[in-house]
Amino acid sequence: MKPLSQLAEQLPRSGIRAVMEIARETPGTISLAVGEPSFKTPAHIIDAACAAAYDGHTRYTPNAGINELRAAVAARYAERWKQPIAVNEVLIGSGAVNAILASLIAVVEEGDEVLVPDPGWPNYGAQIQIARGVQVTYPMRSENGYLPDLEELDRLVTPKTKVVITNNPSNPCGVVWPKETVEAFMAWAQRRDLWVIADEIYEDLVYVGKMVSAAPIDRERVIFISGCSKSYAMTGWRIGWAIAPAALIALSSKAQEAVVSCPSDISQRAALAALTGPQECVEEMRQAYHRRRDLVQSILQPAGLLPAVPSGAFYALADMRSTGLPSQEVAIRLIKEEGIATAPGTAFGVMAEGFVRISLASSEEELRVGCERIVAFADRVG
Ligand SMILES: Cc1ncc(COP(=O)(O)O)c(C=O)c1O
Repeated sequence: MKPLSQLAEQLPRSGIRAVMEIARETPGTISLAVGEPSFKTPAHIIDAACAAAYDGHTRYTPNAGINELRAAVAARYAERWKQPIAVNEVLIGSGAVNAILASLIAVVEEGDEVLVPDPGWPNYGAQIQIARGVQVTYPMRSENGYLPDLEELDRLVTPKTKVVITNNPSNPCGVVWPKETVEAFMAWAQRRDLWVIADEIYEDLVYVGKMVSAAPIDRERVIFISGCSKSYAMTGWRIGWAIAPAALIALSSKAQEAVVSCPSDISQRAALAALTGPQECVEEMRQAYHRRRDLVQSILQPAGLLPAVPSGAFYALADMRSTGLPSQEVAIRLIKEEGIATAPGTAFGVMAEGFVRISLASSEEELRVGCERIVAFADRVG
């Protein structure tokens, strides 16, 4: 037999997988490792999806999504950014994940370098490989509040650098970039003439400060990414979007045709209900995460395990460096000795070695017990 694809063989495996397998085999483990909302999708959204299915919206749609949803996305951000947005500047993807991949395929040439945050969402690396690009990581240091250092970034730019990916609010750091950081970053990207993929999927989950999007600063340069998964607890519905110049959207729609044809019509109708219906559900979920964040902070910060308090998204990075153990070992021992599953920091890059990620998408009781045991472990081993 001829061998299987090198590209597929070389795609990185999730660094959370091994830990999750041990957690599954350890009965009674409390999981603080989940990366998705703990809430149910709001009922009015489910009702809209059921009605859509009965009304026959069960077929293929245009590659870039149905016009009604593209228009609703355009209207939402036209209001937020105080700028007109055309429907042909919006791509609806099967989740933000697909919107990012389609955007990378539309921009990256073979061998182009793409700057990605470290620690950062691990899927960027695999997506860049599929788009035939080369991932180059830029550090987000805890000492720096997990914000980018432009001088360090500058040193990483080569003639092959074409794209920089940002993730604000960040998974796994939970940082929300202040306005000055976003503006300085965009000025830097303009000086360096780079495309910016601004992954702002956690834009509605901000606890401290204000969300400032990179997109309205330079719409010619920014490929804005967001979606329904986090704001509306709709991870399984698979609806995300990109907003970018129309010429790029035309290319990313072509790429999407080959990968998924189009997002599910039923899910697009659900997303339409999410965007145009009552928004109190978003605020209620945001407040619940905020309470959980306060709880985690109240336990981890006095123990010196939280160098940067999360201000958005639903994650906290606990600093376990005092144990002297690598993240993977901390995560495994936390399961075996404390019955707590976390995600090892190294699943998100080399900069988070010695850290574990806690997800706020767990109940308050689980978070309280989990954080107390993490502190007990750090005391015992450190
Ligand atoms: C930073 C980041 N970007 C994108 C995604 C993907 O979101 P979606 O469910 O819309 O594909 C996630 C999901 O965890 C994420 O954490």
